[in-house]
Amino acid sequence: MFARRETRQALIWITLTITVLLLAAALLTVSGLYSVAASRGHFPWTSWLLKVGMHRSVATHSLLVGSPPRLSDDNLVRLGAGHFHGGCVPCHGGPGKRSNPIVYHMLPPPPELSRVVQDWSDKELFWIVRNGIKYTGMPAWVALKRDDEVWAVVAFLRALPKLGAQDYRKLTRSQDRVGNRRAEERARVGSGSQAISACARCHGSETSPPISSLVPIIAGQPAAYLESALRQYADGDRESGIMQPVAAELDADAISLLSKYYAGLSPALAGETIATPEQITRGQAIATLGVPETGIPACLACHAGSSPTFPLLAGQHARYTVNQLLVWQQGLRATSAPGAIMAPIAKRLSRQQIDDVAAFFESLGAPRTAGDATTRVGQRP
Ligand code: HEC
Ligand code: HEC
Ligand code: HEC
Repeated sequence: MFARRETRQALIWITLTITVLLLAAALLTVSGLYSVAASRGHFPWTSWLLKVGMHRSVATHSLLVGSPPRLSDDNLVRLGAGHFHGGCVPCHGGPGKRSNPIVYHMLPPPPELSRVVQDWSDKELFWIVRNGIKYTGMPAWVALKRDDEVWAVVAFLRALPKLGAQDYRKLTRSQDRVGNRRAEERARVGSGSQAISACARCHGSETSPPISSLVPIIAGQPAAYLESALRQYADGDRESGIMQPVAAELDADAISLLSKYYAGLSPALAGETIATPEQITRGQAIATLGVPETGIPACLACHAGSSPTFPLLAGQHARYTVNQLLVWQQGLRATSAPGAIMAPIAKRLSRQQIDDVAAFFESLGAPRTAGDATTRVGQRP
């Protein structure tokens, strides 16, 4: 009897206390007395709660992240570096590059990443770069389905603590003073091909190949194709967390100018290939004849310059070609009209066929030698 009365009284007190606390919180919120000023910092306990909460949340959620690719892969690191320079440095800074004082006044301020990446596992870094962090200003990846791109950034973050300012400048090709000139400006003034522009930093120029074999060679592609690709990125029809932010900055004039500019350059083609002659022969059969049993058409019916809105594949890096075909197999790059033409073809290719046909096209970039005319079909003009 006595015990029951005590319990009831305790319950009343608990309910009352909770109600008062909730009311006080509501009053504080509605009155506007709580300061949201970033200039004031957090109370120590708020900081602690946010930090521990963030670390625990990342640790738990990253358990579901799949296995990473080989992160020491040089081409992955270089692609990640290229994006880091444009997409992360403005907030986090980088070797030899301090960020603008404005970002130190964010709350929390973005940390210098070379000092903190050791605190996180590969999967945790992947999760952070892909999803961003609520209430901090750390943005999510623009193209959430492009895990391959996020892993490239993680590969670079792993290499970052070992990089000095000089290595970093070399890796990102940001040492060239002209590199900071806007690409459209260069296209307009038509300055020399040695100049490294905002695009050339990743895509290279007549004299330098792209920064990584995962970055396409765009020099010498038909202008109409380049224009169509840039529009697709700008409109969000072609998903890439690396190219969408770049293309979004370009207006219609710049897109048209840049496309004409790159179409007019003679490409530094992939050339070197590690494929075996047998693989190239198998790839050549697919490219020239298709695989009628499985409904795969001859690639060269469309990819040898028959339409200015179709890309040339000859001399393209095999890794880029493979990656794009895998992107279609994941159901991406299929919403635009030209992308929808390619989607069913890519879906019918086996992984072996993808590797073979990509190797064949890459081999077409090798320098011509006398008497090898047989494999020259689809050669870039
Ligand atoms: C708009 C500014 C901004 C941009 C752009 C940005 N970040 Fe961040 N980032 C932040 C902020 C703010 C935090 C949160 C820091 C905290 O919670 O202490 C953060 C946190 C992180 C963390 C966790 C670090 C830690 O230990 O707290 C990683 C890793 C990271 N960012 C990587 C990246 C990468 C890689 C890119 C580019 C793809 C990037 N960020 C782009 C602002 C930015
Ligand atoms: C940070 C590196 C980087 C920068 C800077 C960059 N690109 Fe790209 N670009 C890429 C990557 C990676 C891809 C492939 C993206 C994908 O998977 O769709 C690409 C794709 C493209 C394509 C499609 C090519 C094809 O064969 O389908 C065009 C066109 C293009 N970029 C033009 C430009 C232009 C013009 C600029 C400068 C305004 C530029 N890029 C700046 C990395 C970059
Ligand atoms: C019926 C015409 C057609 C045929 C046949 C065809 N393609 Fe395509 N392909 C296209 C079109 C159109 C695009 C451009 C898609 C876009 O703009 O997004 C394309 C794009 C591509 C790309 C992307 C290139 C880049 O620079 O991003 C690759 C790789 C590709 N095709 C491979 C192949 C292979 C391999 C075959 C043969 C097995 C093949 N294609 C057969 C029409 C075709």
